[in-house]
This record gives sequence, C-alpha cells and structure tokens, in this order.
Amino acid sequence: MERPGAPDNARRYFYVSLLPSLFTPALRRWALAENTLVPSATFQTQPSNLPTADNIRDSILEAPGFGIHFSDHMAHIRWTLDEGWHAHGVRPYGPLTLDPAAAVLHYGQEIFEGIKAYRHADGSVWTFRPEKNAERFRKSARRLALPELSDEDFIGAIKALLAQDHGWVPTPADAADECSLYLRPFMIASEAFLGVRPSHEVDFYVIASPAAAYFKGGVEPVSIWLSSHYKRAAPGGTGFAKCGGNYAASLAAQKQAEAQHCSQVAFLDAAENRWIEELGGMNLFFVFKDGRLVTPRLTDTILEGVTRDSVLTLAKDEGLTPEERSISLDEWREGAASGEITEVFACGTAAVITPVSELVTEDERIRLSAGGDNAVAKRLRTKLLDLQYGRSEDTHGWLTRLV
Ligand SMILES: Cc1ncc(COP(=O)(O)O)c(C=O)c1O
Repeated sequence: MERPGAPDNARRYFYVSLLPSLFTPALRRWALAENTLVPSATFQTQPSNLPTADNIRDSILEAPGFGIHFSDHMAHIRWTLDEGWHAHGVRPYGPLTLDPAAAVLHYGQEIFEGIKAYRHADGSVWTFRPEKNAERFRKSARRLALPELSDEDFIGAIKALLAQDHGWVPTPADAADECSLYLRPFMIASEAFLGVRPSHEVDFYVIASPAAAYFKGGVEPVSIWLSSHYKRAAPGGTGFAKCGGNYAASLAAQKQAEAQHCSQVAFLDAAENRWIEELGGMNLFFVFKDGRLVTPRLTDTILEGVTRDSVLTLAKDEGLTPEERSISLDEWREGAASGEITEVFACGTAAVITPVSELVTEDERIRLSAGGDNAVAKRLRTKLLDLQYGRSEDTHGWLTRLV
C-alpha cells in the first residue's frame, strides 16, 4: 500500500497490483505465459562471471540426482516494512550473507515452494500451474506472518532466473526420462533482531537444481512407515503451510522410517490418532475397485498439493469418481484385506505419482490383498507427465511458458 513519501517503486506496485483484477483468469494465464500485457517489475541481472563450463554442466545434466547441483544464478527480491517488495534482481548463485541474529535462524520464520521446469521436444521450457504455487505461497506467508508476494513477482522471478539458466533444464532422452529443473522459491525473515515478532526485513529467493526422478527406483512401489507417535500437524497449527518447521518436525519419524527400510512417513491426525492425513512430502490417494478415488479432504493440517488437485481433475477425465473425505487407518486395513481398495498411491511435484506397496506400523504390515497392479496410478502418472512434457494437449490450460 502506498504511504506518503513512498518511493516510485511502491507507487508502481500499487497500480500493478490492481491490474490482475482486470483480467479474466484465462487471459491472465495467457498474458503471463506470453510475457505480455501484465507488467511486472524488471529484474536487474548481474550475470555470473564464473558460470559452469558447458562440458561440466552437460555431465551434471546426464545424471543430476536430486537436489545436489545448483544452477549458476538465483533470483532475489527484498522486502522491508518501509519499502515493501523492491530490488528485484538475478545474481550469481552463492552463499547468503546473514546476520547471526537473523530471525529465521532463531524463530524459523520461513516458507518455501517446490515447482519444476520441463523441457519440451522443441526445446522450449515450461512450468506447471505456477499460479497454484504462488497462491499456496501467499497462504503460507499469511500463516507465518510474512509479507505476501504477487503472482507477477513469483512467476516473474522464475522467468527472470530461467532467462539466465535455461541451459540447466535437462533434455529428456525419452518418455521414461523424468528429468527436469526443480525450482525452489523461498522466503526468509532476515532482520537481525532477537525478539519474537514478525520480521521487518524479508528476502525472497528462487534457486534451481537439475533433477532426475525423485525415488531412485523410479516407478517402483514404495513402502511407507506409519508414525503412530510423532504427529506432523495439529488443528490450528501450520500443517497447511509449506514452512520449514513442518519438515524439521517430521525428521525424527523419517529416521524411524529409514530404519524400517521405508522411504516416506504416513501421518495420522493429532486429535484422534485415527485418520490418514498425508505423507511427510506427498498427498495420498486410495483406488477402490468400484472406480472411486479417495483422498483425505483438505483441513488445516494437510498441505494442498498442486499434484493432488491435478489428479482429482485428471481422474474425472479418466472416468474415475474422485471423493475428498476422511479415511481412517481401519478403512485402509480392511479395504486392503477385502480387496475393496485395489491401489494406494502418493503424489507430489518431486516424485509425481508413486504407488505404495505396503504400510508398515509397529505391529503390522498392511499390503493389498491382490498385490495391486498399479494400473490407475500408472495411467494417471503417464497422463500427468505427458501433459507436463508437452506430449499431449494442454486442455486445462495448466502450462506456462518460461523460455
Ligand atoms: C507435506 C506435503 N504434502 C504434499 C505435497 C505435494 O504437493 P505438490 O503436489 O504441490 O508438490 C508436498 C510437496 O510439496 C508436501 O511437502
């Protein structure tokens, strides 16, 4: 909001922030994709004078792993109480200079997002439903008492980074090659102040990391550990927000999972210890033999996944009947035993759609009686990937061109 004496920047953002309401969602999506009509702040670019040599980058892109390597630049926008969002820029990737008293280091006032850039066969680079991530980022910001960032700045920062680092988007060898550039927008409380109150200084960054498939086994079904002791989220807490604290709190359970040779943790609700919520980093779906596709309904303890929302839409296209409702551990156990539940799968940006072969608890292993053929999970997975990589028509208008 404009204040007397605010710099031109603030005035410009005030007017820019009015503009989105003038566009229909479809027109805005088109405008953002085409980089026209919707004005966004100019990102000042300071190119790296030591970019990774082409041959080294190419060898990284051949086997990028996940979250290990980072591109040459990062996007940045600064926020202060007096100036609002300003200083939009792209600069060489590198360590941040943070005061040891920075609020994020003490009180964890921090949020982040996860989104991918995909290279299509014609060389162009696209991302998937970025306005959903931008919206979730604002929800997280509100919960963590951080300033909200507009779609234009969120998507603008990604575009500005990709304008420099598009060479870091791997080219898939074939349809089985799920490589992409994983983008990590995040916002931290950077004010040097040891007091528990919302920070007056905040920094937003986007970094990028070339990625192969998330689970080393690819689409191999995974075993999941059920955390009966540790809880991920409680009503009124931060479960629906994507903040670092949720993930820090899940690590003890993740250690237990690893000890049990499980790759993720399933969490039950904190109030009754009865209802299935989600995994530490993915949402869950249950396929019933009559064609129902059930996923826990959204509450303030569940993260609203972009993949979850997309699966609900694609499932309808596939003739399935999606249901968002509470589902208990008992229903999972009984449905798996009786054959009512034919598949369970997890979904998220990083690992797309991954079948779950068994749920391991302290005293039982819940497997699907018929073994589960993963047919629905595989079909939905292929449908989603074909869309993201431009191999099928984008009938829902979910893709935004970056480069
Ligand atoms: C806790 C949690 N649930 C669900 C998801 C899936 O969300 P999305 O599909 O937007 O990646 C994620 C990943 O971001 C997550 O961390």
